[in-house]
Amino acid sequence: MNNLNRFLFLLAFFSFSIMNAQDPVTFRVESQDFALVFQTDNLQRLHQSYFGPRLKNAAEYAIVTEQLRYNGTNEDQFNMAYTPSGTWNVSEPALQVLHADGNGSTELEYQKHSVTKLEDNVQLTKVELLDPLYKTQVNLFYKVFLKENVFEQWTEIHNGEQGTIELKKYASANLYFRNEDFHLTQYSGSWAQEMYPETHHLTAGIKVLDSKLGTRANLYSPPTFMLSFDAPATETEGKVILANLAWSGNFKFEFERDRYDNLRLIAGANPYAAEYFLKVDESLETPHLIFTYSETGIGNASRNLHRWARKYQVWDGMGKRKTLLNNWEATYFDFDEKKLVSLFEGAHELGVDLFLLDDGWFANKYPRNDDRAGLGDWQENKKKLPNGIGYLVEEAEKAGVEFGIWIEPEMVNPKSELYEQHQDWVIRQPDRREFYYRNQLVLDLSNPEVQDFVFGVFDDLFTQNPSIGFVKWDCNAVIYNAFSDYLDRQKISQSHLYVEYVKGLYKVLDRVRAKYPKVPIMLCSGGGGRVDYGALKYYTEFWPSDNTAPVDRVYMHWDYSRFFPANTMCAHVTEWSRDASIKYRTDIACMGKLGFDIDVEELEAEELVFCKQAVKSYDTYKETLWFGDQYRLQSPYDHHFGSFQFVDESKDHAIWFSYLVEQRYEINYSVEPLRLQGLDPDKNYQIKELNLFPGTTSPLDSKKIYSGDFLMKVGFNPDVSRARNSVVLEITAVK
Ligand code: GLA
Repeated sequence: MNNLNRFLFLLAFFSFSIMNAQDPVTFRVESQDFALVFQTDNLQRLHQSYFGPRLKNAAEYAIVTEQLRYNGTNEDQFNMAYTPSGTWNVSEPALQVLHADGNGSTELEYQKHSVTKLEDNVQLTKVELLDPLYKTQVNLFYKVFLKENVFEQWTEIHNGEQGTIELKKYASANLYFRNEDFHLTQYSGSWAQEMYPETHHLTAGIKVLDSKLGTRANLYSPPTFMLSFDAPATETEGKVILANLAWSGNFKFEFERDRYDNLRLIAGANPYAAEYFLKVDESLETPHLIFTYSETGIGNASRNLHRWARKYQVWDGMGKRKTLLNNWEATYFDFDEKKLVSLFEGAHELGVDLFLLDDGWFANKYPRNDDRAGLGDWQENKKKLPNGIGYLVEEAEKAGVEFGIWIEPEMVNPKSELYEQHQDWVIRQPDRREFYYRNQLVLDLSNPEVQDFVFGVFDDLFTQNPSIGFVKWDCNAVIYNAFSDYLDRQKISQSHLYVEYVKGLYKVLDRVRAKYPKVPIMLCSGGGGRVDYGALKYYTEFWPSDNTAPVDRVYMHWDYSRFFPANTMCAHVTEWSRDASIKYRTDIACMGKLGFDIDVEELEAEELVFCKQAVKSYDTYKETLWFGDQYRLQSPYDHHFGSFQFVDESKDHAIWFSYLVEQRYEINYSVEPLRLQGLDPDKNYQIKELNLFPGTTSPLDSKKIYSGDFLMKVGFNPDVSRARNSVVLEITAVK
């Protein structure tokens, strides 16, 4: 090789390797219909370059970035896959680390990624990022449920340094959405006012949704949101994300509209008072963010999320559920053995599967006769139940129903033996006055001894009474005075408490589920104070609210059902609105997991006949309701009546509920037909009215045949009026 050739060769070699070094890496995380695409820049930083419908030619994902004309200066690096802090980044970070030497800067470079097929429908992508200076490793995980278009995303942070590092912020997900405009639907509430929706346009700056309540962290705001792109989505139109953080503790969602009017979303456990320290070689796995995206409206997104939840997340999501009679509102704390046994008959009479004994059955030194005492002392109260739970289980079984029981094992009343013996197990500031929420305090689940105790409450009940058929697991207090005696003794920072509490709870629930996989457990938290997909991994169902006023429940169903399937939503017939007829109250409860919380003996004869019939009917359509697709046909917010339809997979069977929510006078609220959805246009159907009150007849002709095509294009009039303020219709394909 002469000199010139050598020079040309070296030039070619160097330009090739320079080109190579700069060649961006592009990869995608795809569901059946959508793609999340990542690309490196010339500093090996990883950007999210695309989120939207899948491209036909995957090679073209690599050239998306060429179409973007962002100003290339540093402050404009908004679309990072996981935004670090302390170097070039001047926007809200996903990660903030104080390194062992006190330096607060982190840079993340892309190392590699891998894709694993977990099963036919499930793929996991792991992306490895590394700080070249401090060797902090960040792994991003994206689990995709292809058919359901559901993405599950989380992060693992590993300390590769020679000393302890402090994580000041450790988000689960950092996402970037390019669009014209964004409308956020957030939910807020309080006790008995859960899931109040508000939709608003996101303006420049950061909108924060968060909770600092510790335990029943969703009390004021669940870790749930809906995000519409361009314009607020409707049930059948629009681009929309439905999301939930699978985490039963403090959370934080940050929605930042950047200067290109795009949206940065940073979601995870709330870093408030929760700095997390990692020793050498330790890792932290963040909570998982679950989201689904649809370009054909909210209804489609919900159906995808429901299918995913039943199949992959909710405990026994495809399993049967039990109907029940609960004694809470019928007796509150005021009952004894005799009274309970008399109620078993009522449960049997109604035809439900089990009787659920609520609060008030335990504690002796400080009997649980109201909510001020006894919590923590899980021995049967000898005065009320001289023969113990075992006797009740037997008597219930003799009456032909199973027996279920209420516990609240994470909490304690200061007036209890447990508190007297184990103040060190209680979350409280040792030298400050105590503050109570519902007269109680929270046990310190970061402490393994407390975990054993809480598991023991459950385990003892079942060891002594193996045939208990159901548990309602309550959690009523928030965390005040966040301080753990255990962490103090272990010399672990108090700022770990909020995270360790939830991890401790999950450890207990892991043990419960390992030993008791078959027991249905209801997730309750003074109503819907703790509803999230992290908890629902262990629970079969949840109590949406202590508010069972039927009209309120129509609205709550509308909003909860955007995120959670009907088989997880317990709905009880109660006395909250005595002015509403038993039919109206029952029809509304029939749209969830049906239960009653009434004194059956107080029902009029015809009311009892009606309820029994309603339970029987429920048994015939419950599979469609629990496992079918839900279509929210008409919103109670914008119309006189709310309307909801459920269709089974074969499209042979549907169940359709309509509830009047309007109080103003009008003769007929359904002047026009309502278009049904999800049927087969080529099948023919008959429509029959269910849940008719004794002595009434339906104005609808159940013999008439309609094509699915007609029902979906023209529709059908359920004939809702003041006299018919709830209408339950069954739609069956004619063979
Ligand atoms: C909470 C629950 C109720 C009931 C009471 C018992 O408020 O939400 O359903 O179980 O506790 O104290």
